[in-house]
Amino acid sequence: FTVEIDATDIEKGTYPHFMLKEIDEQPFVMRKIIQEYQDENDEIKLDEQVRQAMLETDRVYIIAAGTSFHAGLVGKQFLENIANVPVEVHIASEFSYNMPLLSEKPLFVFISQSGETADSRSVLVKIKELGHPSLTLTNVPGSTLSREADYTLHLHAGPEIAVASTKAYTAQIAVLAILAVDTAKAKRLSFDFNPLQELAIVANAMEGLTDQKEIIEEIARDFFTETRNAFYIGRGLDYFVVQEASLKLKEISYIQAEGFAGGELKHGTIALIEDGTPVIALATQESVNLSIRGNVQEVAARGAKTCVISMKGLEQEGDTLVLPHVHELLTPLVSVVPMQLLAYYAALHRDCDVDKPRNLAKSVTVE
Ligand code: G6P
Repeated sequence: FTVEIDATDIEKGTYPHFMLKEIDEQPFVMRKIIQEYQDENDEIKLDEQVRQAMLETDRVYIIAAGTSFHAGLVGKQFLENIANVPVEVHIASEFSYNMPLLSEKPLFVFISQSGETADSRSVLVKIKELGHPSLTLTNVPGSTLSREADYTLHLHAGPEIAVASTKAYTAQIAVLAILAVDTAKAKRLSFDFNPLQELAIVANAMEGLTDQKEIIEEIARDFFTETRNAFYIGRGLDYFVVQEASLKLKEISYIQAEGFAGGELKHGTIALIEDGTPVIALATQESVNLSIRGNVQEVAARGAKTCVISMKGLEQEGDTLVLPHVHELLTPLVSVVPMQLLAYYAALHRDCDVDKPRNLAKSVTVE
């Protein structure tokens, strides 16, 4: 198996770091995915065997680690809301100890940028012994998880060099949206969502954001240069994105960061808020817009330094950044971009090694 790689993909060019280059590549990755998953009639093009496996299963078990696990949390919402397929998302390293009761016709979906993560592979070996079907979503066709699973969907993100994953996360979410809609169509469910068109809108929105780097760098300087800890809050889909936001910040800036569900703050975490504690809130979901803003007021009243990142149509006076409007289900693809940039600039201002953070490896091939 050979993979063609363009030499410019593995060089930084004029970029100071691979991470920044890879963040900026995300609009192109969205367009590449549209191109690769579109047929000549502008309909979704997907491996017929994958379609069949999705039709036959009564429950999908997503298995992943790190950033790919966070993409899986978003993917669950797509598969359940669009395709009416029940989904469980599991951290690969925990699956063996906390193995759930399996349904009659499970389909295991492995999400892995590298396709080499040992924790995920050990689950794959186990479920193959049990005779269950498997699908891998990976950026590296020919990787172990891709070769050993029954089916593969390629992410088409191009080589990702920086240890902190960025464009692979958005590619995973985009491919999961396409998979969900394809399954819904195959099941003849009615819905008003053309993922290929919506992803084109997302690509433009992402591009608009990469021009706002100065504002984001300023927030990072203001909020993260001195602090030892930081909190991100969100509700609904935003909750999944803030978990990824905090992982990015931890990985490359070494700031102790957590992503919390806004409603859960009062059950413990709010005790940690002191004068000047940074709290970044995401507000891109109409149904929870008021409640998340209530949470921002609660922490601000206890001295937190707050910042709200909202979406066009839901913005309020004083929001630090207003993201371009995209379909509500696809907001994670856009809202994660300023989060990635915040982590990048935080690491830069703290003199950290952005592309090769301490103690971490790009792909972890030991359990
Ligand atoms: C490592 C990387 C993370 C990544 C995780 C899962 O821990 O440092 O950035 O999210 O592995 O990797 P995978 O290749 O399976 O997506």
